[in-house]
Amino acid sequence: MKTALIILAAGKGTRMNSDLPKVLHPIAGDAMLVHAMASGAALNPERSVVVAGHGADAVRAAALAHDPAAIVVEQTEQKGTAHAVMQAAPALDDFDGMAVVLYGDTPFIQPETLTRMAQALASNDIVVLGFEASDPARYGRLILQGQSLERIVEYKDATEAERAITLCNSGVVAARADLLFDLIDDVGNDNASQEYYLTDIVGIARDRGLSATAVTCAEEETMGVNSRADLAQADAAFQARARAALMEDGVTLSAPDTVYLCRDTVIGRDTVVEPNVVFGPGVTVESGATIRAFSHLEGCHVSRGGIVGPYARLRPGAELAEDVRIGNFVEVKNAQIAEGAKVNHLSYIGDAHIGRHSNIGAGTITCNYDGVMKHHTHIGDRVFIGSNTMLVAPVSVGDGAMTGSGSVITSDVEPDALALARAPQVEKPGMARKLFEMLKAKKARAQRGS
Ligand code: UD1
Ligand code: CA
Repeated sequence: MKTALIILAAGKGTRMNSDLPKVLHPIAGDAMLVHAMASGAALNPERSVVVAGHGADAVRAAALAHDPAAIVVEQTEQKGTAHAVMQAAPALDDFDGMAVVLYGDTPFIQPETLTRMAQALASNDIVVLGFEASDPARYGRLILQGQSLERIVEYKDATEAERAITLCNSGVVAARADLLFDLIDDVGNDNASQEYYLTDIVGIARDRGLSATAVTCAEEETMGVNSRADLAQADAAFQARARAALMEDGVTLSAPDTVYLCRDTVIGRDTVVEPNVVFGPGVTVESGATIRAFSHLEGCHVSRGGIVGPYARLRPGAELAEDVRIGNFVEVKNAQIAEGAKVNHLSYIGDAHIGRHSNIGAGTITCNYDGVMKHHTHIGDRVFIGSNTMLVAPVSVGDGAMTGSGSVITSDVEPDALALARAPQVEKPGMARKLFEMLKAKKARAQRGS
C-alpha cells in the first residue's frame, strides 16, 4: 500500500523558552523535525505533509531543505491533534493509501516499528503505537479488550481505574487516509481540554464496527521533547545509540562517551576515533583512518588511511584523499588535499588544492580573503612549502617547486622553481655584543637615577 506521512509540528513548545520553534531545535546536528521525517522515510512515503503553526515559515524552510517534495500546510490555531491532522486533508484529498501520523517533537520512532504498524494495518482499520510507560504521567491510556483497541482516553478525562493503566499512547497512528479524515469529521471537542483529540477516532471507529489494534514499542522510541532538559536527554540517548552502532560496525572509539556524532555521520571500519572528537553535520570518514583527540570536523571527507589531529579543524569542503595527514592546530576549509600530502602543524588551508605528496610547512597560510572576495590557491604535486609561507591568493605553485621559509608568495611559481620572497639577511659583525653593552649601560644608569 502507498504511504503518506502527516507530521504534526504546529505546537508552540512553551517550555523550551525559545524564539526557535520547538521542532527546529537540533539533536545530533539535525532539527527534531528532520529526525521524525527521516524515520518516516523508512516507509517510502509517496507524500510527506508537515503541519506547521508556530514559526511556520522557519518550519516550512527546514522541512523543504530536508525534503524538497514535502508539502507544508498551516494550522493557524492549535485546536488539538485531530484538528492538526485535518489540515493535511486537502493535500491528501486524492490519496489512495495509508496515512501515518507522526509528531515533529518525537524524533526517535524506529523504522522497524513503523514497518510493524504498516503490517498490522493489513488486518485492522486503525493501528495505534503504544508503549508500556515507566511513569504513565499525563499520557493518553490505551483501553484494550484482548487484542482489540477499544478507546484511547486522555489523562485529563480518565477515571482513576483508567489512570491505573500503564499502556500509553505514543501519538503515532496509521489508517487509510480517506478513513482517517472521515473519522476525524466526527471528532468533537467536548472534553476537559476543549480540544479536538485525534485519539477519539478509535472509539468512533469501534462504534462503527471497524477494527483497531495497538502495536507496541520500547519507551525510548516514544521519547518526546518539551524542554531544554528533554532536548539534552534526547541528544544523549541518540549519542549512546549512534556510538554503539559505530562500534558494532567495527569503529574503535577509545572513549565513546566523549565523541559527539551527528545523525548523518559515517565512519568506516577499523577507523580509530580518539577521545573528545566532535563530528558536525556532513562528515564521512573511510576505513582505516585515525581521528586524533580534540579534533572538530564538519562537512568534510577523510579517505582511507588519513590521520587527522590532534586538535585539527576540518570545515565544510575539506576533502582529504588517501593517506593525508592533517596535524595539530591546522584548519582546512573548502580544500582538496591530494593523496599522501601533509599539513602537519599550525596552518590555515582555505579555498585551495594541494597536490599529491606535497608537504606544507608549519605556519603556512593561504591568504584567501582580500576583505571582499575569496580567492583560490593551487599547489601542485610534490611541492615543498617552507614554514611560515604566506600564499596570497589567487596564486599557484607548480609541481616540484619549493618556497623558502617566511616567504610571502604573491605571484605564481613555475614548476621545479625555488621561490624566495622575503627580505635578504643582513649581517653586522660584532654588532650584537655592542648592542648588549649599550643596553646594559643604559639600564644601570636608569637604576642609579631612581
Ligand atoms: C498527545 C495524545 C496523547 C499521547 C501524547 C503522547 C492527543 C489528544 N493526545 O497528547 O494521547 O499520550 O500525545 O505524547 O492526541 N499539535 C499540533 N497542533 C495542535 C495540537 C498538537 O500540531 O493543535 C502537535 C504538537 O506540536 C505535538 C503533537 O501534536 O507535536 C502532540 O500534541 P500535544 O499537545 O503535545 O499532545 P499531548 O497532550 O502530549
Ligand atoms: Ca506532548
